Amino acid sequence: MRTRRAALTAIASASCLALTLSACGQNSEGGSEGSSGSTKGATIGISMPTKSSERWIADGNNVVKELKAKGYKTKLVYGEDEPDQQVSQIENMITQDVKALIVAAIDNKSLGNVLQEAKDAGIPVISYDRLILGTDNVDYYASFDNEKVGELQATYIVDKLGLKDGKGPFNIELFAGSNDDNNTKYFFNGAMKVLKPYIDDKKLVVKSGQNQLTQVTTLRWDGATAQRRMDDILTGTYKSGRVDAVLSPYDGISIGIISALKSDGYGTSSKPWPVITGQDAEVASVKSIKAGQQTQTVFKDIRELAKVAANMVDASLNDKKPEVNDTKTYDNGSKVVPAYLLQPVSVDKGNWQKELVDSGFYKASDLN
Ligand code: GAL
Repeated sequence: MRTRRAALTAIASASCLALTLSACGQNSEGGSEGSSGSTKGATIGISMPTKSSERWIADGNNVVKELKAKGYKTKLVYGEDEPDQQVSQIENMITQDVKALIVAAIDNKSLGNVLQEAKDAGIPVISYDRLILGTDNVDYYASFDNEKVGELQATYIVDKLGLKDGKGPFNIELFAGSNDDNNTKYFFNGAMKVLKPYIDDKKLVVKSGQNQLTQVTTLRWDGATAQRRMDDILTGTYKSGRVDAVLSPYDGISIGIISALKSDGYGTSSKPWPVITGQDAEVASVKSIKAGQQTQTVFKDIRELAKVAANMVDASLNDKKPEVNDTKTYDNGSKVVPAYLLQPVSVDKGNWQKELVDSGFYKASDLN
């Protein structure tokens, strides 16, 4: 590790010689105003998982904006859903002398070694949205109440189907997120807590029989993977009967599920859309909700998340204690990581305007 690090340092310094001084280890987006004390003008490294989903592009931009407003420079990188790439990008940023790291992990167990390097270099690490597992070298966690996300999705299904009024039985199929993302089990468990009593009472029937987390995960949250699984379920299980609800943990997955359902003839008066949940309020899904296809999504105001993460960095670099509101829930296997959790909001046809447009998150024209 040491040798590799030394080699990286040498490469970084050599490229710096070939560049203008101002380009070394900085990002063009960086602000020039310094923050107070010894962190004046420090560069903060931001490592995001992928540009394939619009939310992470917005997350990156939001975090840059918040840090700039506090006088920091920034270096923003995307790992394109390749865990190894994320590790080497973080390693490079450490060599380029970033003073803190904000990381949304691709594979939550792959960062132990590189975060040891961060620790050795005295760099505080903020785990962003997804908890990094199996290392002491995570200082704080900025996220949402992830179990609540699953509860909101499942409660929506329960309400929409009228299960509390004794209606049923209904058929449901279950989807979960990537098995290497710590959030996945929180979303799924939160949802199952709400759905299980109805499944036990046979008011909800998982007709495919695929009801365990290990059977329903979707690697890297990939919509095409979810579409294939839904195709298989429709062909294998629904020669008779219909799907009444689909628990989907994320909008990209919901869009894949909707494509499979559409190919199978859903979305007509004889075969209406099932109740389909989601998460992130991505533009395609909000449009789908407006068009009556996807039924619900969970909105997480990532503008606030960026503020939380930037505040955590700023406090850490100025010997202050960042504000946290949860010191119990997020055990990463090495320690309980102090967290600040924001609240998610359920969004459907009835409140998208209020939550997403009136709040300034989207312009109405984005959603046409
Ligand atoms: C999760 C995140 C979700 C969704 C998903 C896929 O970690 O909490 O909001 O974005 O990744 O990107």
